[in-house]
Amino acid sequence: MTATSAHAPQPTLADLVERRFGLPTSAGRDRPATGTLADMLARRVCRRFRQEPISEETMELLFAAALSAPSKSDLQQASIVRLRDPDRRRRAEALMPSMPWIAGAAELLVFCGDNRRMRRIAELRAKPFPNDTLDMFMNAAVDAGLVMQAFITAAEAEGLGCCPLSLIRNQIDELGRLLALPAGVFPVAGLALGHPEAQGKLSLRLPITALVHEDTYDASGFEAELAAYDARRAALEPTPAGKQRYAERWGTLTEYTWSEDKARQYSVPERHNFGPYVRGQGFGLN
Ligand SMILES: Cc1cc2nc3c(=O)[nH]c(=O)nc-3n(C[C@H](O)[C@H](O)[C@H](O)COP(=O)(O)O)c2cc1C
Repeated sequence: MTATSAHAPQPTLADLVERRFGLPTSAGRDRPATGTLADMLARRVCRRFRQEPISEETMELLFAAALSAPSKSDLQQASIVRLRDPDRRRRAEALMPSMPWIAGAAELLVFCGDNRRMRRIAELRAKPFPNDTLDMFMNAAVDAGLVMQAFITAAEAEGLGCCPLSLIRNQIDELGRLLALPAGVFPVAGLALGHPEAQGKLSLRLPITALVHEDTYDASGFEAELAAYDARRAALEPTPAGKQRYAERWGTLTEYTWSEDKARQYSVPERHNFGPYVRGQGFGLN
């Protein structure tokens, strides 16, 4: 080891925060880039996996850790469907033809909001259930999201890589039938999981100052923050002309930004079948 490398400054949490937001900070300057915070600051989705199974023991530990997530009123309104049968797994993948890399994941899971159990418990305990509300639906959706994130955190701590998949909701009726989801249960997102083959890219986030409000919600600086974020992100992660969304409709720009991309993404209707599906699953959303 050379004298220079022996004294090379060790990365700090502040370095990771700066990389995440592309902005200078002193927060975490004296703290080494290790531990839970460092892992969270450096996390990114994984879309390339090695062909290597995950042991049953690890899967059980990950499910156990995920299901330790907080739950609204301890109602425990999340369910996970693990696609184990190869034929059913292929049929699930076929619902997402634009992302063939999903076939390379060791595991494919579907995280669901599950209000069925509460409704069944009301029947079993001979009680009314006057709560067919949007709030009830949201509680189940939030529980499922928290369980999925807890699963991701646990899996990444075990050296695995993950990518959530809302794409799996594109053909929601087919997915519901494939997984035999009963009334009261709805898919929130899929999750591709495996041993990472390559590290994904770290994606720059909107600044803390634009997303964290003090005392009251204040969006007065948003447009300026957005313009600066767009510029930082375009400099770090330029979008090649061929990858600009809906270029045939909106043209090809020399300065293609995150906000342009997101505005283009939602310039066409997306998943208008989800509301009818959820109502068809018995949710009144009152
Ligand atoms: C609920 C949810 C659904 C997502 N669905 C997809 C998806 O269908 N396909 C995909 O490639 N990535 C999907 N992602 C991953 C996001 O694209 C990714 O998190 C985002 O680009 C930020 O990148 P990062 O997580 O690496 O920071 C999803 C993420 C979440 C939280």
